[in-house]
Amino acid sequence: MLWGGRFSKSLNQKALEFSSSLSFDVTLMEEDIEVSLAHSAMLAEIGILTKEEAQQIHSGLEKIRNEFLNEIWKPDPAQFEDIHSAIESHLKELIGETADKLHTGRSRNDQVAADLRLWTKKNADQLKNTITELQKQLIKTAEEHSETIIPGYTHLQRAQPISFAFHLLAYVEMLERDKQRMQFVLDEANVSPLGCGALAGSTLPLDRKSTAQKLGFAKNSANALDAISDRDFVLDFLNACSVGMMHLSRLSEEIILWTSQEWKFVRLSDDVTTGSSLMPQKKNSDLAELIRGKSGRVFGNAFGFLSTMKSLPLSYNRDFQEDKEPLFDSVHTYFTSLEVMRLMFIGMEINAERFTEELNGDFSLATDLADWLVLKGVPFRQAHHLVGEVVKLAETKKCKLNQLTLDELNKISALFDESALQLFDISSALSRKKTFGSPNPEMVREQILLWKKKLG
Ligand code: ARG
Repeated sequence: MLWGGRFSKSLNQKALEFSSSLSFDVTLMEEDIEVSLAHSAMLAEIGILTKEEAQQIHSGLEKIRNEFLNEIWKPDPAQFEDIHSAIESHLKELIGETADKLHTGRSRNDQVAADLRLWTKKNADQLKNTITELQKQLIKTAEEHSETIIPGYTHLQRAQPISFAFHLLAYVEMLERDKQRMQFVLDEANVSPLGCGALAGSTLPLDRKSTAQKLGFAKNSANALDAISDRDFVLDFLNACSVGMMHLSRLSEEIILWTSQEWKFVRLSDDVTTGSSLMPQKKNSDLAELIRGKSGRVFGNAFGFLSTMKSLPLSYNRDFQEDKEPLFDSVHTYFTSLEVMRLMFIGMEINAERFTEELNGDFSLATDLADWLVLKGVPFRQAHHLVGEVVKLAETKKCKLNQLTLDELNKISALFDESALQLFDISSALSRKKTFGSPNPEMVREQILLWKKKLG
């Protein structure tokens, strides 16, 4: 019991179980120990603890860490309100009265904020690495497909031909922005609230610089009231996970399309697909569907906690305890989704020839024909109109663009010549692209090289 003095009854058992966060904040066990190690070392530096007392506390905390990791000590949620009180109580069992000095100049309010900030820094950083691993895998797959032609879409209508590598590189860019968001989260969390006490600092001469430095925080918070009641870094983390999951969900959706009988473009390895209990022929992309499905939960976590925060007066309110489950869930879901997405690409078989024939002479080359007319001096709007007629003609004849004759084209415009017909050859479609950032295979290969250098 952390506050016995003014109470004549202990907390009702049902109330304790309702309010206990131990079942999930046990995740913060290591961070809590780190924070207590730093705090007690600082208390010794300013002479509030003797060296011996600090030493006793340190070895007690290290013992708790070991016992926990080796499953010798397992705190019971029916007995403790949170990981902080569970550790303090066990410390007392291990080292006796000296344990009572650990909480000097500290509140669980600055303690839990410090724990969660450390956890956020560690996990945002690890997520950056996990995202990099997926980027590397996408680059690996892309490397072999700078000339693999697929239809590019707008409005899910065939628009212009692109390469599979180009398509994957779009995701590599998205993932890079996801890492930048993680770095932002990390920087936002990199501020120490320790020494802010319950809400208004301390009358004890706590050395905040020392604890911040010991724990690797970049600086100290400048306003205790804000520091205690700030969970913006949690919201930023939840949001970063949401945007990241949204990207993975879009890629999942594409994998589901690519593996369909309609696309016949991708086959996933058997070890990342499932069958049907009824239909023997089925091979389903369940993992992609699950990533897509789980993205909804991660968005819900972000919105849920934003709603929790909405009308909380300064500073600490117990509502804050509701920050942990959504955060841990989103981070865990995002981690595992990134890993599973990478697995799906590892054994992926790509039918590189799938669209070569189909896109030869396809209407998706129409824009190139309009550009060709522009280079002959035709104003673009007129060129667009003329090519519209070309497409209409092919549609009435139920043929592809490359099945039209020069005579037929010349009835639409006398400007068309043999070189216009060559545009309908799909094999040169990509290399004709001139602009930076386009699917020109040379540019794509250059991008791949740059990414390989960047990702190491
Ligand atoms: N379990 C609490 C939380 O997660 C720890 C802080 C409790 N502080 C308090 N004043 N009751 O927020």
